[in-house]
Amino acid sequence: MEKITSVRGFNDILPQETGIWQYVEGRARDIFTNFGFREIRVPVLEKTDLFKRSIGESTDIVEKEMYTFLDRGDEYLTLRPEATASVIRACIEHAVFTFDPVARLFTIGPMFRRERPQKGRYRQFHQINVECLGLDDPRIDAEVILMLIQFLNAMEMTALRLQINSLGCQECRPVFRSNLYDFLLRRENDFCEDCRRRVVTNPLRVFDCKVNSCQAAIDHAPRLSGFICGKCKDHFTKLKEYLNIFDISFEINDKMVRGLDYYTRTTFEVVTESLGAQNAIAGGGRYDGLVKSLGGPDVPGIGFAVGMERLISLMPRGVEEFVDTLDLFIAALGDDAQRLAFKLCNAVRIKGIRSDMDYAGKSLKSQMKRADKLNSYYTLILGDNEIRENRAEFRDMRKGSQVTLGLDRIEETILKLIKER
Ligand code: HAM
Repeated sequence: MEKITSVRGFNDILPQETGIWQYVEGRARDIFTNFGFREIRVPVLEKTDLFKRSIGESTDIVEKEMYTFLDRGDEYLTLRPEATASVIRACIEHAVFTFDPVARLFTIGPMFRRERPQKGRYRQFHQINVECLGLDDPRIDAEVILMLIQFLNAMEMTALRLQINSLGCQECRPVFRSNLYDFLLRRENDFCEDCRRRVVTNPLRVFDCKVNSCQAAIDHAPRLSGFICGKCKDHFTKLKEYLNIFDISFEINDKMVRGLDYYTRTTFEVVTESLGAQNAIAGGGRYDGLVKSLGGPDVPGIGFAVGMERLISLMPRGVEEFVDTLDLFIAALGDDAQRLAFKLCNAVRIKGIRSDMDYAGKSLKSQMKRADKLNSYYTLILGDNEIRENRAEFRDMRKGSQVTLGLDRIEETILKLIKER
């Protein structure tokens, strides 16, 4: 029969890979908790309007990449392409800000974008997502970036570059936007068809265009730094000072506009040379008008998301270093040995030892092979001879050494030996 395969761009994470995923998630939880962040879990499905209103109607994500469907003719729903909008929706819905003016939240899970799959770009991918709501002090911007860098350092990531920019606020952005608009109109012929459309719908998006000729033409465009208002400038200057306090090196990339419309003031990305076109491991920024625009109070916010697939593919300690190990494999031959093994294997499991055995009646040789495959530290060998002589062989699989143990009180002896390791 024809087999059914997975959907293009949707990947399985196999048991030999889940170890590194759990490690990354665990370290993120530890580090974020130190910074006062708590986990929130939000649904993967939301009303389409949530993303249209937050990410922006004329972004690539909303225009081309969302998995949207009409739910039984009732309403349009979308598989979340990112988590920020959902986290804010949840905070507004549960009136979080009436209990506490500051919410430091993180969430980990799958996101969905219908992009063209390639290395580092998938249609289902995972993000570690952080949001800090309620504070507009530039110290928070620095703190959030510090936390991101600390997390990436904990993952032993090297050759990364932090790029920052300011996108201004409701005061200065419109002035910049209209200057940019004039420039783009004058140079319209230098830009691709998509960009010519963007001039009208969302001129800032032209900075994001990957077409070479557009990239060259945009080099001459005005930058927000030329129009930035006093308050935004002060915010940006302080952020840079605070980053210096923590010796965080950064570059200013004044062409970085990010692919989502909600950003104000600080934006940042962590990029690498090693991923080809998909070079961003993490991205984020401030979004001071977003909560209000989604029907909540006038609460500022800042956050980021790390792409887990990209991060894991670049970690110097590879997937194989995190493969689960076993403490004990029991290789047993014959009925008596199997009976004892079955009892012992489950008894030590209950005491917290990771153990396994063979139930398929395989030869001793193939059972030893299986012990090796399962990455077991020790193997207890119970052959016919051993049972007859009331003994077992206890083998250290790493060292290749072996000791003989008496079968009386075997469970306690094994527990002691394993716990002493
Ligand atoms: P974003 O830049 O769209 O930001 O995504 C963040 C990260 O997710 C990217 O840097 C990348 O590592 C990863 N990523 C994005 N698309 C894909 C894909 N198709 N395949 C694999 N990885 C991908 C956001 O999503 C914002 N919500 C971040 C944020 C939080 N801003 C404020 N708070």
